[in-house]
Amino acid sequence: MGLMDGKRGIVFGIANDRSYAWYITKQLVEAGAQCLFTHLPDPKGKMERRCRSAIDELGIQDPWLVPCDASKDEDLDAVFDRVKTDFGKIDFIVHSIAFADRQFLQMGNFHTTTRQAWTQALDISAYTLLAMARGAAPLMPEGGAIISMTYFGGEKVIPGYNIMGIAKAALEHTTRYLAADLGEKKIRVNTISGGPLRTLAASAVGGITEMHAHQERKSALKRNINGEEVGNTAVYLLSDLASGVTGETIHVDAGFSIIGL
Ligand SMILES: NC(=O)c1ccc[n+]([C@@H]2O[C@H](COP(=O)([O-])OP(=O)(O)OC[C@H]3O[C@@H](n4cnc5c(N)ncnc54)[C@H](O)[C@@H]3O)[C@@H](O)[C@H]2O)c1
Repeated sequence: MGLMDGKRGIVFGIANDRSYAWYITKQLVEAGAQCLFTHLPDPKGKMERRCRSAIDELGIQDPWLVPCDASKDEDLDAVFDRVKTDFGKIDFIVHSIAFADRQFLQMGNFHTTTRQAWTQALDISAYTLLAMARGAAPLMPEGGAIISMTYFGGEKVIPGYNIMGIAKAALEHTTRYLAADLGEKKIRVNTISGGPLRTLAASAVGGITEMHAHQERKSALKRNINGEEVGNTAVYLLSDLASGVTGETIHVDAGFSIIGL
């Protein structure tokens, strides 16, 4: 019997088969979960094709896949309305999305971040967690679980991570406030602080190659992590194994964050 047997939820954030969301889905499906998906809409449909082919690789036939730009309330409302019509209820949400203008993700230029770049990064990377929790809560009448993805750059300064670090700090504290707010409804909210993984979003951050090398030198386990390790932690947090865990930031970083020097 799988840990996620009988559980259904929405995964936001598969861009391709290197996305953290893809690895999380892989492990969730292996544990017996039913996953529903969204993709970022674009006029040429490239995002949908990439997302569909990544889902296909996981052997998921005829996936439930709808467009959603999470910075638009009407898109999020449409997702939750359709889920309600098609399924009635859900058990979990995976928030694995982030965005910041790459122009401001270079070492030494944090102080040049514009108001617009700041607002957009915080909106897409942090506010959307709250917006998704608000949409999901009525569809979780018997409780549920929500996770998101964060990075150590939200706790300490990582050169080049810049505005994304501010957004991750907001995401992590939003997790705690949401956990406190939704606890009475038996909805748990946690975030996973993942080590660096070579994804589309990571390629926008200046110095990602150096981050990987540094992770290998400094981390307790003296290595980088792989996507499945984050996927397994997602299964734990979204399953009943973690029934007493909420408001936490769980590091899956091979012990990088515990080392001072
Ligand atoms: N890759 C890493 O090193 C790393 C480390 C720790 C945390 N994370 C976090 O993991 C999460 C997933 O990123 P990833 O590294 O898998 O990269 P990715 O590029 O594969 O995924 C980012 C996703 O965000 C989506 N997205 C961006 N703007 C959106 C919007 N307005 N509406 C809906 N979706 C939108 C993209 O379509 C994409 O699917 C992010 O929160 C990221 O910050 C990544």
